[in-house]
Amino acid sequence: MGNFEPVIVAFCCHYCAYTAADMAGSMRLSYPSNVKILRVPCTGKVDIKHILQAFQNGVDGVYVAGCLEGDCHFKSGNKKAALRVERVKMLLDEIGIEKERVEMVTMSAGMGEYFAQTAINITEKIRKLGPSPVKNVWKDQLRSAS
Ligand code: FES
Repeated sequence: MGNFEPVIVAFCCHYCAYTAADMAGSMRLSYPSNVKILRVPCTGKVDIKHILQAFQNGVDGVYVAGCLEGDCHFKSGNKKAALRVERVKMLLDEIGIEKERVEMVTMSAGMGEYFAQTAINITEKIRKLGPSPVKNVWKDQLRSAS
């Protein structure tokens, strides 16, 4: 696991986290390329199944990045997303997968530095956890099918 490089999906709200990512870029702040950004209109559009599908497709970690509390452009999308992330944590826990592999974070559009630091911190955390066990299950199934 020494040179393990995790693949992480970040569902980023168009109005805040995605703009913060843009700002990080224009400030020339670097953050790990491990983080693959998926822009969504609002984190309220991220369903439990989208997060689970990401794991099923082989990612090692997922985070949902929305607007600060009270700033969601669709009123309560970020609150719904936070509840869904908590539900996914419970589901992962129930099947023996580290719940720390999924997180909800919030930020404003102007928080480019925070965006970059969050990407660094989450990448480091997932790197320490190692590859997702879901990935190994698929590998084992493919191996036994061939
Ligand atoms: Fe940003 Fe809803 S518009 S989280």
